[in-house]
Amino acid sequence: MKLSVQKTLEQVKSVLISSKSTGPDPVYFVFKELEHEKWANITIIQNGKIGIEYPKTFGHYHSTNVNETYQVLAGEGVMQLNKKHINEGKWDPALVDEVYLIKAKAGDEIVITPEFGHSWSNTGDFPLITCDNWTAGHHPSDYEEVEKHHGLAYYLTEEKGKAKAIPNPNYRCSPDPIWITAEEFAKLS
Ligand SMILES: [Fe+2]
Repeated sequence: MKLSVQKTLEQVKSVLISSKSTGPDPVYFVFKELEHEKWANITIIQNGKIGIEYPKTFGHYHSTNVNETYQVLAGEGVMQLNKKHINEGKWDPALVDEVYLIKAKAGDEIVITPEFGHSWSNTGDFPLITCDNWTAGHHPSDYEEVEKHHGLAYYLTEEKGKAKAIPNPNYRCSPDPIWITAEEFAKLS
């Protein structure tokens, strides 16, 4: 396998709750060209804290109308999903219709349909390692709106040893997040 992405703290600071926070650096790595029939990429997200926030991936939407499947190989994390708000056929990126915060552990699989933006946060004490089947690549526009709004709709932070979701004020209004396990989420579809 080959290293395809190494995201430094500097590269993700635009989507953090505070751009001045310090923490694990690089924040995460993505490897591609796995010798495995089902999976295309492995992502390794460092554990620890960036200020009050859990280390996370940048977050993105897909411009291709294809599902993506993730499996957690090791560690514990929360996958944030933001459902696109469509108004008269047009995406309004400052609003989201639904927010899922999916608690996942090793062995869990999460299928993401194209209407959801997504990002992993490592809420555990060890690196979070996930694999996914995404082979369509990414266009810069997949990240644009997330960067413009300084992250997805919620920041995943730690308070008194527990995960706490803080609304991102750069969205006009966000629905309350739905905390759910990966198993429960799989039953919804
Ligand atoms: Fe994706």
